[in-house]
Amino acid sequence: MERSGAASSERSAGPSRTSRRVFPLGLGSIFGGDASFSAANVWPMEWAYGFYERQGALTGLYSGDPDDYYRGQADRIRRLAPDAKTVLELAAGGGQAADAAVDDGLTVTAVELVARAATNARRLAASRPALTVLEVDMYAVDLGDARFDTVVYWDGLGIGSDQDQLALLERVRDWMCPGGRLLLDVHTPWYWASAAGREASQGTARRRYGFDPYGCRMLDKWWDTEVGGEDEAVEQSLRCYSPADLALLVGAAELEVTTVEPHGALNYETGTYEPAVPLQRAMSYTAVIVAEEGGA
Ligand SMILES: C[S@@+](CC[C@H](N)C(=O)[O-])C[C@H]1O[C@@H](n2cnc3c(N)ncnc32)[C@H](O)[C@@H]1O
Repeated sequence: MERSGAASSERSAGPSRTSRRVFPLGLGSIFGGDASFSAANVWPMEWAYGFYERQGALTGLYSGDPDDYYRGQADRIRRLAPDAKTVLELAAGGGQAADAAVDDGLTVTAVELVARAATNARRLAASRPALTVLEVDMYAVDLGDARFDTVVYWDGLGIGSDQDQLALLERVRDWMCPGGRLLLDVHTPWYWASAAGREASQGTARRRYGFDPYGCRMLDKWWDTEVGGEDEAVEQSLRCYSPADLALLVGAAELEVTTVEPHGALNYETGTYEPAVPLQRAMSYTAVIVAEEGGA
């Protein structure tokens, strides 16, 4: 199933935060015009609230109950972190995956930024005492002494700069129990480069993918064909990482990748989603990440 949304909104209603500028990357189309290389890394994260709020309103993606896709996420925890008991889910959307994990016997704390999505997660939590929902910014939340044997971040990595990703990974390292695991979904550069220009519809909503080869970012623009049209589109921009690049990033946080499990790919010839493809064709993968030996 193709889930990922990625876009930047000029109409952010959420928390304001500016990326720190450390890694040399590119400037991309979200700033208008053609991408051109620059030593400055100026990927902002301010678009996130406005984008996910609008995407949720257009598609209903962050509303409703868990379906087979989300039950598959719970299966993934069982497969990749078989000893999991206490789970921190970052950027949990409408809480459907967290809910499925609770139904699988896990205790889950779900962190989500956008009110619309967190409201759905709280609705699901009302009948599940093992699910706690925090409507907060994962880059800023203080979880006190809470520690988790498993941290999961499904379908969302890459919002800001590499430095932002690194800051989050350092927070995750501190939230993990000794011996804990991070299960991290990562978008592949090759799939998203090849998807650039593709369009799809969902009800009155339309999306178009793009790709910034300088910043290695997938771009994903959404608009309502009946209200506002493309002039009022929102767009997400997500940094894509090969496993080799991811290893460099997580290594800077004294973490290491132990396993990579490829996801599927949309076959544009047949219009069908192929759930099992080799990594070189996959749209994303889940990386299993642990603390480096001798590290934190
Ligand atoms: C593509 S959605 C994925 C949602 C969910 N993980 C899933 O797989 O259905 C990305 C999610 O990240 C959330 N998000 C973005 N920035 C965040 C932040 N700083 N703190 C918490 N959640 C955030 C968005 O609101 C959105 O729900």
